[in-house]
Amino acid sequence: MPLIHECVLTTLSPQGRPHVAPLGLIEEGSHWIAAPFRPSTTLFNLEHSPKLTASFTDDARIFAGLVTGTRSFPLTDVEGWPAPRLSCALAHAELEVVSVEEDATRPRFVCSVLRTEAHRPFMGMNRARAAVLEAAILATRLDRLTREKIDSEIAYLTIAIDKTAGEAEREAWDMVMAKIAAHLDKA
Ligand SMILES: Cc1cc2nc3c(=O)[nH]c(=O)nc-3n(C[C@H](O)[C@H](O)[C@H](O)COP(=O)(O)O)c2cc1C
Repeated sequence: MPLIHECVLTTLSPQGRPHVAPLGLIEEGSHWIAAPFRPSTTLFNLEHSPKLTASFTDDARIFAGLVTGTRSFPLTDVEGWPAPRLSCALAHAELEVVSVEEDATRPRFVCSVLRTEAHRPFMGMNRARAAVLEAAILATRLDRLTREKIDSEIAYLTIAIDKTAGEAEREAWDMVMAKIAAHLDKA
């Protein structure tokens, strides 16, 4: 399996309006692939505007805020590039779609990485942040998972939260758990 970089993508609408969404970019040789499921705004934008920006962050609240739709995050213009980055990004990459592998459910947008830039130091891995990331992905797939699968994933991820979360990670975790709880209450 190839390495996947979990990031926040900024794509542009045909009118040039930025749209921000968390996405995994698949590393394949010198190319990175964006593979959004249909339907999504990210996919629509990639079909119309080939220039995008990936923002890299270690702040779990960004992923939690985006998947729960509870927060928006400031963007900063990138010099000489149309798609802005997250203002708080540790680093960003400027990507251009060079080819598309069509698919009925999940087309693949093959991108060249034109430039990367670092903005802040990365201070190391953290299990609670990784657990929030996993829970955030889970929260985008609730309709496709059984109650048992959701419960067992959360039980496992809770261990890392209890042992290694700081305040920010706990806040992010609580946001994602609230979304999952609301879904389970309805089910
Ligand atoms: C860390 C992370 C990685 C994700 N990776 C993908 C992905 O590779 N493909 C996808 O379709 N959705 C992915 N998602 C879910 C999308 O963010 C979600 O579907 C989002 O609503 C995109 O839709 P939009 O472009 O309409 O906003 C991911 C979510 C998270 C939290």
